[in-house]
Amino acid sequence: MKVLFIGDVVGSPGRNMLKEYLKKLKAKYRPDVTIVNGENAAAGKGITEKVYHEIKEAGADIVTLGNHTWDKKEIFDFIDDKEDLIRPGNFPKGNPGKGITYKKIGGHTLAVISLQGRTFMPPIDCPFNEADELVREAASHTRFIFVDFHAEATSEKQAMGWYLDGQVSTVVGTHTHVQTADNRVLPGGTGFITDVGMTGPYDGILGVEKEAVLHKFTTNLPTRFEVTKGREQLNGVFVSLNKDSGKTDSIKRIIINEDIPFFD
Ligand SMILES: [Fe+2]
Ligand SMILES: [Fe+2]
Repeated sequence: MKVLFIGDVVGSPGRNMLKEYLKKLKAKYRPDVTIVNGENAAAGKGITEKVYHEIKEAGADIVTLGNHTWDKKEIFDFIDDKEDLIRPGNFPKGNPGKGITYKKIGGHTLAVISLQGRTFMPPIDCPFNEADELVREAASHTRFIFVDFHAEATSEKQAMGWYLDGQVSTVVGTHTHVQTADNRVLPGGTGFITDVGMTGPYDGILGVEKEAVLHKFTTNLPTRFEVTKGREQLNGVFVSLNKDSGKTDSIKRIIINEDIPFFD
């Protein structure tokens, strides 16, 4: 089982990169399942139905979300209709949508789980308790379990990696938009990376116009953030799962930008 995961797609620059490179990456790596984090895909905040379809047409099988899930209000009209669109499972009970989905490939099934951290983030239900629930559910269907843990603190993401080591195939961190170089397979066989990084503008600050962010930092005045234009990048990981154990055999980082061009 091979999984391609693409980090937070930010606005039209992120969608451009998906359209330009996702099919090429799929031809190169031949993943069985492609997962895209789309929490920033619509103008940097949230997702619309049109943008969801764009991401799917670019080649995603499953779309995950994060703290920007509800930023575009129209999501309330379609999230419950999309089997392959998930939001963090530890949002409070009664929230629309769900935190787990399954993708069947040949005779196998991949479970994909979305969770969100609580450190320096809105106070939601405990991601570790919710992980117990969702992993138990997933494990009753399959040994291939992939977790997108959307969190701010490096420590909380590493904690989730160790917490789930040996219980799931892979834990990838998202949300901080900068790829970390700590991809590894933990001793129990769970593949891990603290953050996959983002797919969108290359020259802004986490995808936002740097002038606006600098204005905010230097004046502390309220500032409107826009997705920056110009050069673009793509960040992701490619994970090979062992067909017998379901654990990770290898987890590789993917970076495409003007300094590190794509090659097939
Ligand atoms: Fe994000
Ligand atoms: Fe986020």
